[in-house]
Amino acid sequence: MTIKTVAIAGGSGSLGKPIIKSLVSSGFEVTVLVRDGKKSSFTTPVKTVTVDYASHESLVFALQDINAVVSVLNGPGLDAQPVLLDAAIDAGVSRFIPSEFGANTYIQKTSQIPIFQGKIAFQKLLAQKAAEHPSLSYSLVIHNPLFDFCLAGGLLCDVKNRDMTIYDGGDNKFSTTCLSDLGTVVVGILKNPGQTKNRAIFVEGVNLTQNKLLSILEKVTGSKWTRKEESISDLNTAMYAELSKEQPNPGVFVPGFLKVAIFGGSAYGADLNEQTPGLDNNVVGLKPYNENDVEEIIKAIVA
Ligand SMILES: NC(=O)c1ccc[n+]([C@@H]2O[C@H](COP(=O)([O-])OP(=O)(O)OC[C@H]3O[C@@H](n4cnc5c(N)ncnc54)[C@H](OP(=O)(O)O)[C@@H]3O)[C@@H](O)[C@H]2O)c1
Repeated sequence: MTIKTVAIAGGSGSLGKPIIKSLVSSGFEVTVLVRDGKKSSFTTPVKTVTVDYASHESLVFALQDINAVVSVLNGPGLDAQPVLLDAAIDAGVSRFIPSEFGANTYIQKTSQIPIFQGKIAFQKLLAQKAAEHPSLSYSLVIHNPLFDFCLAGGLLCDVKNRDMTIYDGGDNKFSTTCLSDLGTVVVGILKNPGQTKNRAIFVEGVNLTQNKLLSILEKVTGSKWTRKEESISDLNTAMYAELSKEQPNPGVFVPGFLKVAIFGGSAYGADLNEQTPGLDNNVVGLKPYNENDVEEIIKAIVA
């Protein structure tokens, strides 16, 4: 199977833009599915097709002659994935990459985290549909937090106030990869369809602990950071308490549960090196970062 034509759903979002750029520069013919009235501008020259995610026919039409679909839908847009998948099967698409791109939901404790239930249900549907329709295969990408994106966004620490909450002493290992490298990973999958067929692809840019990250942050910023201590168990309990409220606040429980999966250590599969049979960096061509690379990434964010 050779993949030449790729359709991307949710291409106007945070992950979509860098992935589109890599696909185009690697020679793929890219079609971006856009919603009516939500036309976005793309700096990379791509074909756009307006679709209605509620219409099977609209999606089958848009996916004619497409070899692979990459979904980077998010929020309520994730609900469109089952319709998109059925349309992909009917249009003869060979490879489907769902909007996964996150925590290690292959580990039981992570798979029980409430915010991941929609993605897990779609993983199961995807595996079932691929078994029923051998012309379709899938790959899903697991990389844990996006290092640059989550540093800038405040999930890994509070860069502005030089503040980090450390969980369980800060020595739990976690894998992390930059947003700017996801294009390499997706291109690597589509160029190696045989080796990446019907499975999760585990990648890691760098392996860190919170203590290690804090020491690099202090070195790069030349300042002492405030260090607060908490436990993963207390954080997890607090997030379930938030969920049990009459009106739970997603601004609290989404980042809270994400931190449980990232900083919870081996119990949550956060160190992807521990995954059997290991990382797929070599399969997709992702080069790990050294400490200097990490410092440069941090410098660009704290600047
Ligand atoms: N591991 C990490 O650190 C990390 C960080 C960020 C994201 N992610 C994951 O990456 C994936 C993509 O996230 P993202 O941040 O790129 O997403 P995003 O920017 O929030 O949105 C992606 C796109 O979804 C599309 N969409 C379609 N229907 C929608 C609807 N009804 N409501 C809202 N959006 C709709 C929109 O594109 P159109 O308007 O073009 O249709 C939107 O630009 C998700 O699975 C997310 O969980 C992971």
